[in-house]
Amino acid sequence: MSPRPSEEVAIRQARHGDGAGMWQVVHDCGVLDLNSAYLYMLQADHFADTCAVATRGERIVGLATGHCPPTRPGAVFLWQVGILPEVQGMGLGRQLVAAFLRLPGAEGAVRLETTVTPSNTPSRALFHRIASDLGTECQVTPFFAEADFPQAGHEAEELFRIEPLDAEAIKHL
Ligand SMILES: CC(C)(COP(=O)(O)OP(=O)(O)OC[C@H]1O[C@@H](n2cnc3c(N)ncnc32)[C@H](O)[C@@H]1OP(=O)(O)O)[C@@H](O)C(=O)NCCC(=O)NCCS
Repeated sequence: MSPRPSEEVAIRQARHGDGAGMWQVVHDCGVLDLNSAYLYMLQADHFADTCAVATRGERIVGLATGHCPPTRPGAVFLWQVGILPEVQGMGLGRQLVAAFLRLPGAEGAVRLETTVTPSNTPSRALFHRIASDLGTECQVTPFFAEADFPQAGHEAEELFRIEPLDAEAIKHL
């Protein structure tokens, strides 16, 4: 069912029960790696404090999911950010990343990490824009090469590191 145009988009922390809608957004984005529905269901429960969703009415229309990597103290890792095509280009991606950085699980993090493929121009521009808005640096380094993936045709994933993060700057993002 399509949302009514009058319905506002809201952003909140993910919660148990959001997993199916999160899976659907990733499916409908058509760009992100689609994982099993159960993975998103677990994320919405076990990792809810590092997952944000955008909703329009009852429907989930965007997500920003991640975790704090146990081996990388100080980092919060944004794993997937995706917006349904119908609400792209309206500032929602930026708002979701900002909401992600304000989640309880990201509190105290000094570095935002994410990975992006070389061809994903919108996503690359989004994270450079976030770094610029935060008044900080964005470093891009190799992370996973094409050959690291089991299936042929998966692009490399480059590591974007945005640091240092400043709590005051995040408030105003
Ligand atoms: C990447 C994505 C999340 C951006 O969300 P969005 O809501 O469309 O983006 P916003 O409107 O918030 O734009 C924020 C910034 O992103 C960049 N951007 C967004 N869309 C862009 C596009 N089509 N081309 C170039 N830059 C783009 C711009 O820098 C923009 O800021 P500016 O226009 O003020 O300079 C969205 O395009 C998406 O879901 N894409 C498919 C999934 C995906 O690729 N996810 C990222 C994988 S890591």
